[in-house]
Amino acid sequence: MRKKIILAITGASGTLFAVQFLKLMQHLDVEIHGIISDAGRLVLQHELRLTPDDLKEYVGQWHAKDNFAAPMSSGSSKFDAMLVLPCTMGTLGAIANGVVNNLVHRAADVMLKEKKPLLLAARETPFNRIHLENMLKVHDAGAIVCPPMPSFYHHPENLEEMAGFVAGRLADLLGFEIEGLKRWKGL
Ligand SMILES: Cc1cc2nc3c(=O)[nH]c(=O)nc-3n(C[C@H](O)[C@H](O)[C@H](O)COP(=O)(O)O)c2cc1C
Repeated sequence: MRKKIILAITGASGTLFAVQFLKLMQHLDVEIHGIISDAGRLVLQHELRLTPDDLKEYVGQWHAKDNFAAPMSSGSSKFDAMLVLPCTMGTLGAIANGVVNNLVHRAADVMLKEKKPLLLAARETPFNRIHLENMLKVHDAGAIVCPPMPSFYHHPENLEEMAGFVAGRLADLLGFEIEGLKRWKGL
């Protein structure tokens, strides 16, 4: 059955991970609903020279970040899962504390109350105590904290491959079957 996924891009470094994730989703039976924070827009422009419009071929629909009337504002709209990629410490903190200042926060709040998968690709370094406490809070509330940490054992040849591997692991967590994804088979 066709899945409905929310992809939120917030203003942490690593917008390439989001683009590679969208590329992996492109040929799957999935409907992608995008939300991007103001800072996410800024970082996407700075890191990749892209605007949300440039990603239109991958995102079924973009929802304005302050549109609290968007479908994902309500549990009745039945989204299958939500991924925040990359996820800032600001957005993580809002979600952890039930603070709703934009549609990303509201959609995440809804996923938690509906007991639906919420993946937070939290990105910062180093973490302070507040970041760590917030990660534990969202974990205890049912979210999966999955920082986009690149790995090297699959010998990536470029940044796209490196980010693609991380995106593949996130797709795994969301239950997608991605053909051709490199997997560890032992030494
Ligand atoms: C180029 C750039 C990179 C940033 N990287 C991070 C980051 O990795 N993690 C983070 O928590 N904030 C980062 N920030 C700061 C956030 O964008 C800022 O805290 C913002 O208020 C977050 O808002 P949002 O969560 O609504 O996107 C970065 C900002 C810029 C301009």
